Order: sequence, then structure tokens, then C-alpha cells
Amino acid sequence: MSSFPKTRLRRLRRLPALRRMARETSLSVSDFIYPMFVTHGRDVRTPVEPMPGIYQLSLDHLIEEVGEVAALGIPAVLLFGIPATKDPEGAEAYEAGGIVQEAIRVIKQTAPELMVVTDVCLCEYTDHGHCGVLSDGHVDNDATLELLARMAQCQVDAGADMVAPSAMMDGQVGAIREALDDKGFVDTPIMSYSAKYASGFYGPFRVAAGSEPRFGDRSGYQMDPANSDEAMREIAADIDEGADIVMVKPALAYLDVISTAKKAFGHPMAAYNVSGEYAMVKAAAENEWIDGRRVTTEILTSIKRAGADVIISYHAKEIARWLVDGPQ
Ligand code: PBG
Repeated sequence: MSSFPKTRLRRLRRLPALRRMARETSLSVSDFIYPMFVTHGRDVRTPVEPMPGIYQLSLDHLIEEVGEVAALGIPAVLLFGIPATKDPEGAEAYEAGGIVQEAIRVIKQTAPELMVVTDVCLCEYTDHGHCGVLSDGHVDNDATLELLARMAQCQVDAGADMVAPSAMMDGQVGAIREALDDKGFVDTPIMSYSAKYASGFYGPFRVAAGSEPRFGDRSGYQMDPANSDEAMREIAADIDEGADIVMVKPALAYLDVISTAKKAFGHPMAAYNVSGEYAMVKAAAENEWIDGRRVTTEILTSIKRAGADVIISYHAKEIARWLVDGPQ
């Protein structure tokens, strides 16, 4: 590159039209997956306090909201369930009548064009709040694999279009792939939470899903925030086991991991813009300490710029509206 004064990088910044032409990254509504929390009962619409705009919804309200999501052009939802009862093995997760399975069926009846993705993890369903079954006070990896595989089969049986294992058990992608293939679901993709960190940013989600561990924490299975080489090994293992999309979670504090992984693997990548990231922006915006629309757009653009093809975000509905409104 020649230098100043022949080169003036400001030349491309002067006209708005030229700025738009030279823009390297743009968001599209088709990049987004909207997470939703579904609960038993009728006429339930409980606000999740640390996540303004997000609710625990019973099926009747879920249907209404799913209609809105589809009308906004958002291509997919990610479902989390709040079970009627919790037990040590998280039984409702893999019962045909479980809340998520019911939700999939009603969504498929009312908004068949909407893609339904399901979280495959036991933490919302176990009474101890851990992501798998326990033996001697530890999460038993191999015993959990069997249950995760059953859970994924049960969700796909009910009509799920894609499953997203998030328990951080070794071998979970392989176990689920094999279980789906056994049932003939050879074309159902797996989006794996491959590099999922033991993060403080999940705090508000655990309020929404009632999934706070009753003892200890998740550092025995989720990743240490200090590590990135290990994330590459997690992602490589999941690709090897058949993951169609690999995910980094959370997004904002891990943009380096997204970027390195995209360059290293060139695999379809998702990033989860998690509950705590959403809560921080909402809290500051409600106090008018930041411009919520501007900061949200900037954050989501940075996640895409880092290398994410798919963004899972509680902001999906508002960003869909803003993209239609056009630039501010
Ligand atoms: C289930 C799961 C969690 C999230 C997604 N799937 C919680 C956790 O691991 O504690 C967090 C999502 C968010 O914070 O928005 N294991």
C-alpha cells in the first residue's frame, strides 16, 4: 500500500453511499436464531427480570410469539423447557409429552416455515441442576451420553429440525449422531455448543430456566475462560464426530476464539450472544447510559465480523425490526 498523501483512507468515508459500499460486514435477519423459554400451564407469560422483553411462555402465548418471530423473517427459534417436575435423571427431557416436545408439535402446526432448534442438555430438568447424571457427586460423562442421545431422538421425533447439544460431555456429538442415524434421521443436522465456557454471563439464563446448580459449579465440564488452544481441540473433536455447525459461547468476551476457529476450520460457525451480554446492554440502555440500538448493532456486527455465520441472540426480534427500518 502506498502511503500518505497518495493514500487517504478517509476518502472512502466521506459519502454515506460510499461508506455503505465499502462496508465489509452486514447483518441480515437470516443470520439469527431467537431463543425462547417454554413452560407448562395456560396463560403464563412470566417476565424474566434480568432480561427485559424475555418471558417464560405457556404454549398459548408461545404460539402468539412464534407468529411474530416468523412474521419478522427470523428463520429459527431455539427452545428451552421448564419442566413440571425435576428429578435426578431429568426424565421430562426425553418423554414424548415433555414440554419442549409439545412446543415443537404446536409450532410445526402453526408456523411450519419456522425452523425449530432444540437445546440438548439436562440442567433444566435435573433436581441438582447439573447438565448430566451424577455418580459420587460428579457428572458421569458416559452415563449422560445415553440420556442426551435419547433426548435428541425424542425431540427429532416430535419434529425438531436441528439439535444443539450443550452439556459439554465428551463424545456427545458422536453419541447423538449415532442415535439419530439409528432412527433414520440421517439428514437432521447437529449444531454443537463446542467451545462452551464456564461463564458468569449465563446468570440471567439460569433465572429464566431455573437451572442454577444446587451445589458446586460447571467448571468440571465447561471450559476455563483462560483457554483458547483447548477450544480448537474441542471444535476439532466435534467436527470429527459429525457436527454440522460448531458454536462458541458466550460471544462477546470470546471473539478471538470465534475468529481463530473460523480461520482454522472454515466450518459453519455459530456464536451465542448470551443472557448476561443481553442483560448488560438492556440495563445500561434503560438508564440511558448507552444508546441501546447503536450498541446492540455494534456488538452483533462485531460477532459476525469475527467469523460467526449464525448468531443466537435475545436481540433477534429488535434487530429484525431495525434492519427493516434501515440505517438510523
Ligand atoms: C444449558 C444452557 C445454558 C445456556 C444455554 N444452554 C446454561 C448453562 O450452561 O448454564 C446459557 C444461555 C444464556 O446464558 O443465554 N446448559
